[in-house]
Amino acid sequence: MTQLAPTVTLSHGTAMPVLGLGTWPMDDDESATAVAAAISSGYRSVDTAENYRNERGVGRGIADASVPRSELFVTTKFNKEWHGVDGARQACENALERLGLDYLDLLLIHWPNPGQDRYVDAWRGLLRLREEGLIRAAGTSNFKPAHLRRLLDATGEAPEVNQINLNPYATRAETVAFHREHGIVTEAWSPIKPADVLAEPVVVQIAERHGCTPAQVVLRWVTQQGYVTVPKSASPERQRENLASLEVELTAEEIEAVSALDRGEAHVTDSDAFGH
Ligand SMILES: NC(=O)c1ccc[n+]([C@@H]2O[C@H](COP(=O)([O-])OP(=O)(O)OC[C@H]3O[C@@H](n4cnc5c(N)ncnc54)[C@H](OP(=O)(O)O)[C@@H]3O)[C@@H](O)[C@H]2O)c1
Repeated sequence: MTQLAPTVTLSHGTAMPVLGLGTWPMDDDESATAVAAAISSGYRSVDTAENYRNERGVGRGIADASVPRSELFVTTKFNKEWHGVDGARQACENALERLGLDYLDLLLIHWPNPGQDRYVDAWRGLLRLREEGLIRAAGTSNFKPAHLRRLLDATGEAPEVNQINLNPYATRAETVAFHREHGIVTEAWSPIKPADVLAEPVVVQIAERHGCTPAQVVLRWVTQQGYVTVPKSASPERQRENLASLEVELTAEEIEAVSALDRGEAHVTDSDAFGH
């Protein structure tokens, strides 16, 4: 029997698997193969974006897998040109067409782009799409507490998920505290990307103690803190390894020891300055 990831319930009631497959920077063909392999290994969640230019491939991978759509959780994100109420609808319809789906589980504003200052309208657009049932959950990505605060002040509604760069070198304490206060689920992107993190002596020692891999230690460090994550792997073996991280059980001391690798916000891309 295939082991599935447990789910977390988002604030509007949708169940989201705590670990899914990231698809950047795979192209359509690579994504189709990787997504189909991941689903057959037990993955039920896939993360893509307009900007990755692989939604068609992700859709093909979903169609090729023999799991009903209702059992899958599909996330995509849209670019700044769609920030606006009507724009969000158009972005959603475009993504659905590329993916070959009739609803999304989660749609994210990919970057706030505060220089353009239209993310509040994009958020209003997402709320409308959720009401209409085109998306089951609405969220953001790379939003700082100040951006989230504006959404709350303008609409009284917090995103269900904020997907941010989070790993042992970037524990994002301030943003995560804001999420906790407002019922926003933290989703970690590039959880194991800084390759050096997997060679950190503390990570290697914990892996040896548990008889698992350094990647499994870091992924479990993410999920045991209550965060969701989407590690990318094109390799079916590493996909299975990453999903099996959920079977590891770290102690509170081990989680703290990995968190001590934090280097602060300096290495995190500044979403007041960068975005697409
Ligand atoms: N919202 C945003 O702005 C944003 C930005 C970046 C990424 N994302 C999303 O987050 C996902 C994850 O982030 P990411 O792809 O940047 O980084 P990541 O998932 O932390 O790391 C991916 C890298 O780690 C390798 N890898 C995977 N499993 C491994 C294992 N068990 N042991 C050793 N190496 C392993 C992969 O290579 P192989 O493929 O060869 O295994 C790949 O080079 C993306 O795919 C994308 O969906 C979102």
